[in-house]
Amino acid sequence: MSQVDRLLLAGVVGWPIMHSRSPMLHNHWFEKNSLVGRYLPLAIEPKNLEGALRGLHPLGFSGVNVTIPHKQAVIPHLDEVSIAAQKIGAVSCIHARPDGALIGSNNDAHGFIRNVKVSFPHWRADAGPITVIGAGGGSRAVCYGLLEEGAKEIRLVNRSLDKAQAIAADLGAGIKPIAWTERHEALGAAKMVVNTTSLGMVGQGALDLNLQDLSSDALVSDIVYVPLETELLKAARLRGNPTLNGLGMLLHQGPLAWKVWFGIEPQVTQELRELLEKSITG
Ligand code: ATR
Repeated sequence: MSQVDRLLLAGVVGWPIMHSRSPMLHNHWFEKNSLVGRYLPLAIEPKNLEGALRGLHPLGFSGVNVTIPHKQAVIPHLDEVSIAAQKIGAVSCIHARPDGALIGSNNDAHGFIRNVKVSFPHWRADAGPITVIGAGGGSRAVCYGLLEEGAKEIRLVNRSLDKAQAIAADLGAGIKPIAWTERHEALGAAKMVVNTTSLGMVGQGALDLNLQDLSSDALVSDIVYVPLETELLKAARLRGNPTLNGLGMLLHQGPLAWKVWFGIEPQVTQELRELLEKSITG
């Protein structure tokens, strides 16, 4: 693309935000594509959210990613929201269009599925039951992505059963809500397990999940990426299961955002992955 008149600008809106790995990822792409641009961590207090969003276009931003705690709160301030974001109930990306309109989308589901497919090209969502642990925002995106890929049965385990039931009501009959006490048994005959809770993340408790009933060829995946290998993934790896951490989900939602912001799709390379991995492992 020709770039003569302005600095390309994007960022991530959250509160707090300085821990975010997104700037490292997106600024790497400016550099690799020889573009003059900047992706900024934007610390926006909830009370300033609307003003910040309205300022994006006048300030020259092409758009932003949205993270905790704003993923739902941005919705009333947008001019359009994609079907996927409506279904998931959260916006992860905003395009500040040249005409000033703010368009919300959710790239988390795509990022999750793309990561699985790149890492396991023969994976199929309809190969058998999938057990998803957790029913927060991350879970809604994962469940939506899995259903779009053709998953027939998602066993959705959550500590608060009502949240799993709400996802089933929103996303359809393929979702089977399961009580937290039944989580170990919910692994029987599953072809895939996904942890979408914060358990296993640095500073949080571990996910107490007995893998005894899990088939040894089931793919075990975590959307947590700090640490890169959670206790769940370690236990799965040690018993021979294929595993996948959450970093790829972050990496693979990026190109979609770039496509709407800047009209190009950057590459998720091994070099980029290693850069992020290094920042996590120190
Ligand atoms: P996100 O948007 O990142 O998914 P969230 O909406 O706060 O975050 O969801 C966090 C998930 O982790 C929820 O499924 C939550 O369970 P509840 O719905 O019962 O709150 C789950 N979670 C967090 N701490 C937990 C714990 N100690 N035990 C079990 N589940 C936990």
